[in-house]
Amino acid sequence: ESYSVAILGATGAVGAELLQLLEERNFPISNLKLLASPRSAGQVLEFKGECFTLEAVSEKSFQGMDIVLASAGGSTSKAWAEAIVQSGAVMIDNSSAFRMDPSVPLVVPEVNPDAVEDHRGIIANPNCTTILMSLAVWPLHQACPIQRLLAATYQSASGAGARAMEELKQQTQAILNQQDPPAEIFPYPLAFNLFPHNSPLNAQGYCEEEMKMIHETRKIFGAPDLRVSATCVRVPVLRAHSEAINLEFAEPLSADRARQILAEAPGVKLLEDWDKNYFPMPMDASGKDEVLVGRIRQDLSHPCGLELWICGDQIRKGAALNAIQIAELLVNRNLVQSAMAVSS
Ligand code: A2P
Repeated sequence: ESYSVAILGATGAVGAELLQLLEERNFPISNLKLLASPRSAGQVLEFKGECFTLEAVSEKSFQGMDIVLASAGGSTSKAWAEAIVQSGAVMIDNSSAFRMDPSVPLVVPEVNPDAVEDHRGIIANPNCTTILMSLAVWPLHQACPIQRLLAATYQSASGAGARAMEELKQQTQAILNQQDPPAEIFPYPLAFNLFPHNSPLNAQGYCEEEMKMIHETRKIFGAPDLRVSATCVRVPVLRAHSEAINLEFAEPLSADRARQILAEAPGVKLLEDWDKNYFPMPMDASGKDEVLVGRIRQDLSHPCGLELWICGDQIRKGAALNAIQIAELLVNRNLVQSAMAVSS
């Protein structure tokens, strides 16, 4: 069987990766539709050697579609969700619009694949830092329950989209040319600099990105009381996020045991050369499917604590790949139909 698939936000950084992954993984497509804003209508993109013309999204864009991969921001997702579900398609949404909606599954296929069973037409793709972290942390949590999780992130420009990646390049060039760096997408210069994540702050002083890591990890793990805290920072890296993660377990879990578990964990690759002091770097992770994990070591301040370091491609596993894996999961479980289609 093959499916009619639409990409909403096909011109974006994640949209481009979705297109590439559909081709690379030979997703069963009978009909492909590329959607973006009216700005992009008429542009042409290539898929499997064929040219596809971008359309401005409208009510009728979704007629006859089976799967809509949405990556055009939260407001666009909210604006079109009803039309998508009404048309009988399943929406796999990369935005934060529906992630915490109790009726919407929030899915990392390596962690909670069964959550897709309950979908009612929308499935949410988690926040990128949360997806990457969950791959490394979930297998350890299953071996020994985690009581507290602390993360510090080093997030690349790609998380803010294609134009942000371009701005980082332009800033770098401007500074090297002793000119003022442009800062239109980012609030401050990112080149040769870094800043705490610029998403809105709450009354407790946490930014939205940090709160996503807290709430989404609990939802994906099915652990509403898990103690999680995070500090999210934007760094001048083009692509691939890094995270320093501290875990406190209910009982001691040795670094060697953690290494054994992670060596077998799906979607994870160990990368540790202690003699050379070589551990995962964004450059190693860029363009790769796996989350790279290294520097696994005992927390010297706590007998039940472990420290680890991870890097993962934000655009791939942090966004597009996870969305495609959700689509594959739906195909394999024969769940490519919205609740509307089932009830009508
Ligand atoms: P467009 O290129 O036409 O603006 P990124 O996250 O890399 O910045 O990409 C954002 C994606 O979302 C782009 O494909 C962009 O299309 C799309 N997009 C932004 N606003 C809208 C909108 N109002 N309707 C449809 N697509 C939109």
